[in-house]
Amino acid sequence: MKIAVLGTGYVGLSTGVCLSDSGHEVVCMDVDEEKIEQLSKGIPPIYEPGLKELLKRNIGNGRLKFTTSHKEGLHNKEVIIIAVGTPQSNNGSADLSFLEQAAKDIAENLNQNAIITIKSTVPVGTNDVIKNILKENLPHDISVDMAANPEFLRQGSAISDTLKADRIVIGTENKQAASKLEKMYSILHIPILHTSIRSAEMIKYASNAFLAMKISFINEIANLCEATGANVEDVSIGMGLDKRIGEAFLKPGIGYGGSCFPKDVKALYHTASEHDMNFGLLEETMTINNQQRELLVWKALSRFGDLNGKKIAMLGLSFKPETDDLREAPSIVISNELINQGARVSAYDPVAMNNAKKVLNTQVEYAKSPEEAVLDADAVFIVTEWKSFVESNWKQLVKEMKSPIIFDGRNCLKEEEIIKCEQVEYYPIGKPKIIKA
Ligand SMILES: NC(=O)c1ccc[n+]([C@@H]2O[C@H](COP(=O)([O-])OP(=O)(O)OC[C@H]3O[C@@H](n4cnc5c(N)ncnc54)[C@H](O)[C@@H]3O)[C@@H](O)[C@H]2O)c1
Repeated sequence: MKIAVLGTGYVGLSTGVCLSDSGHEVVCMDVDEEKIEQLSKGIPPIYEPGLKELLKRNIGNGRLKFTTSHKEGLHNKEVIIIAVGTPQSNNGSADLSFLEQAAKDIAENLNQNAIITIKSTVPVGTNDVIKNILKENLPHDISVDMAANPEFLRQGSAISDTLKADRIVIGTENKQAASKLEKMYSILHIPILHTSIRSAEMIKYASNAFLAMKISFINEIANLCEATGANVEDVSIGMGLDKRIGEAFLKPGIGYGGSCFPKDVKALYHTASEHDMNFGLLEETMTINNQQRELLVWKALSRFGDLNGKKIAMLGLSFKPETDDLREAPSIVISNELINQGARVSAYDPVAMNNAKKVLNTQVEYAKSPEEAVLDADAVFIVTEWKSFVESNWKQLVKEMKSPIIFDGRNCLKEEEIIKCEQVEYYPIGKPKIIKA
């Protein structure tokens, strides 16, 4: 099948490489010339495990091409996939300007009938808006079918999530479009759910909002566990064993971040208000998440009384491991708050340092290794649960610190390793602290 993809971000690029690897001919387009230049040479502009290999293989076999020219990219394509960003606008709603522009680009350059498939996360009803833009701008002899095909991949495992998704949701307005898209994905052997376009659009927001709510719920339970002497890890296991609840997303921490959950919860809340509905559950989910991001700072304040002049090592800057993305990362809020409190922040991340330098407070200092970050530190904050931090020699690391105090924002360090430290104060979330004087 001949496919065009607009947007080579996490979603568009993962989709493009996986569809070409499945045997389709794919042209990926982006307005970012630097990205396309890099991609054409097989250099991924983002860090994603497995991406580089697929990129090289499919450029090599000629099934995957990149261009900044919509005319060239859209030429003779049967399926057009739109995967441009839908960031948050000032009032919390989804900003559809990139999508609207993409629709105009398609209308100006499409040379045959095609299925326009919106993979970007968009509020219910957006397909209709895009269809109208296309209708107004397409030549009269060209017609399109619309489809909503939301994406559920997670950054950090984007390629394997695309190849082994739990489900593919296809919302269409007619059977021909539905069966063509089913055929496009058939080689992946992933269960496909066919729905109306509006239901498909809603499934994406409902799923993300539910997962975000689950995170905020377990974070509140963790805080209550701490107050009552229960252990949230046991509580999570006990809850998760109930098939009605499930074990996923019951890990407490310093809140969700990234380019999707925060904006999608806000956008769904906004959609509800547009329909005169106060979706209070979502409001509370967001409030809990905002508080949770500051938790380590509050814990440190309660331990030290005052953070003025204290050196805090911040390990992990990306919003989650296996990505270099800092969008809505808790590290942004934490470092700002620490600096407001007069602390010195020494930060380290295995892959996100370059991106961090663009967005973190300019007073943040960057270390070349975890060892350098913790040197003479009064405390260390574990902000992202990178495997390398979990596997570090903590017995040795805490010896480099001024005081061996660890605030683990991801409950990722192993207690048996912490106990090996000669002296340590270890503060996890929602379970008992470990103090060895
Ligand atoms: N990142 C995720 O984990 C994830 C997961 C599921 C769904 N989504 C959704 O998928 C969509 C894309 O997300 P992303 O993270 O890949 O975005 P991104 O911001 O990383 O990439 C979007 C790309 O689209 C390009 N673009 C903008 N206008 C264009 C145009 N007219 N023609 C061609 N290219 C254009 C941009 O230059 C950019 O490279 C969003 O709606 C997002 O909510 C993201």
